[in-house]
Amino acid sequence: MSLASRRTLVTGGTVVSTTGATPMDVLVEGERIAALLAPGAGEGFTVDATIDAAGMYVLPGGVDVHTHMQLPFGGTEASDTFETGTRAAVWGGTTTIVDFAVQRAGEVVQESLAAWHEKAAGNCAIDYGFHMILGGVDDDALKAMDHLAEHEGISSFKLFMAYPGVFLSDDGQILRAMQQASGNGSTIMMHAENGSAIDVLVSQALARGDVDPVHHGLTRPSAMEGEAVNRAIALAEVAGDTPLYIVHVSASQAVERIAEARSQGRNVFAETCPQYLYLTLEDHLGAPGFEGAKYVCSTPLRSRHESHAADLWKGLRTDDLAVVSTDHCPFCFKDQKELGRGNFAKIPNGMGGVEHRMDLIHQGVVDGELSLQRWVETCSTTPARMFGMYPRKGVLAPGSDADIVVYDPKGTTRISAETHHMAIDYSAFEGFELTGAVRTVMSRGTVVLDRGVYSGRPGHGRFLKRGPSQYLR
Ligand code: URP
Ligand code: ZN
Ligand code: ZN
Ligand code: ZN
Repeated sequence: MSLASRRTLVTGGTVVSTTGATPMDVLVEGERIAALLAPGAGEGFTVDATIDAAGMYVLPGGVDVHTHMQLPFGGTEASDTFETGTRAAVWGGTTTIVDFAVQRAGEVVQESLAAWHEKAAGNCAIDYGFHMILGGVDDDALKAMDHLAEHEGISSFKLFMAYPGVFLSDDGQILRAMQQASGNGSTIMMHAENGSAIDVLVSQALARGDVDPVHHGLTRPSAMEGEAVNRAIALAEVAGDTPLYIVHVSASQAVERIAEARSQGRNVFAETCPQYLYLTLEDHLGAPGFEGAKYVCSTPLRSRHESHAADLWKGLRTDDLAVVSTDHCPFCFKDQKELGRGNFAKIPNGMGGVEHRMDLIHQGVVDGELSLQRWVETCSTTPARMFGMYPRKGVLAPGSDADIVVYDPKGTTRISAETHHMAIDYSAFEGFELTGAVRTVMSRGTVVLDRGVYSGRPGHGRFLKRGPSQYLR
């Protein structure tokens, strides 16, 4: 029997979608979903395998649209390769990632993209796409945006209002890239911080002798995130209401500006990440000694004395924040975060989390922050729609890829670096005990994880050519 005709029936579970949680069986044929059936309706069918999902949720595989596997950054390289990072994603119920190819100033966009294809091809356990980071917006890069959107399946471009001299685009470059995106139907993703002002605050802190990790957060005030979000929204308006997606939102002020733009009907969208929902500047970034280096990322963790985390959960409920991604960008504590001992500005920015997003946000359901449907919507369906992968990804429907997670709502997930599968020597969520656990994962009809046994393989994952956002008016 060929793989193309192999039939699997997932029986007895509750299918969770954006609109409900309904007892249904799922018939998989080859790589696709063939049918959703009333419970027991598939009993007479001839199938090759049955997956008993009694007592379980059955959901579309997680879609993490913000990862950085093996990203060269901060004088080192993110510690997960496409192979280790996508394997870890499977363990956490994520079956699609969209990573970032990087063009730096002076580089030819198409060549940079080719280099990223080379890193990923043949190594991914799950399907993957790319956004393109533009670190050097010039005439050639602008032309390349059209080519990538039309021919290469890359319909989203990330710009930085932070990291002067590395990735930062000035307002003129941002405006030009937004105008180009308006013309070719692509989305601008924005890292919204005021890089020039932050650089001044960083120099002043270092001159005072404030070198510990907590100063990473204290020199990136939340007001500056709000300012940058506001500026990005205004620039996108001037450029023709360019679809704008604010990445890694951490601050109340940012949520406020986004909500305001959305209430005006603007094409403004945003994501947050689990670290901003659960970790704080005081408890984590401000941990004694150099321990806080584990929690250095940008935007930074915010103060627990303000309402940031509560506002982010609220934003997820109201859809002002549409997506939860991880911004998975892991650097080991021992030999990588170490680069910034004695100077917080040299700590590589980023945290690992691709493995635990589904569980951490399910905990939000358990805690009453989100509905079950909204969990699936923010972690799977909307990211697929936002970045042009729907209905192939993000939904269990006839014809969709059979990326399926069987999730045990009564299971327990204990997060620890001792047991996780990411190539990083610590966990930002060490010791978290969560209600809910991934039991079985299918990627395009193939079981890649079942009850703690991994059976995925590098090269099973294919590059996804994406279309424009399906989340626009
Ligand atoms: O600290 C972070 N977020 N590192 C990854 C790069 C980025 O800005 O997303
Ligand atoms: Zn090409
Ligand atoms: Zn960023
Ligand atoms: Zn990132």
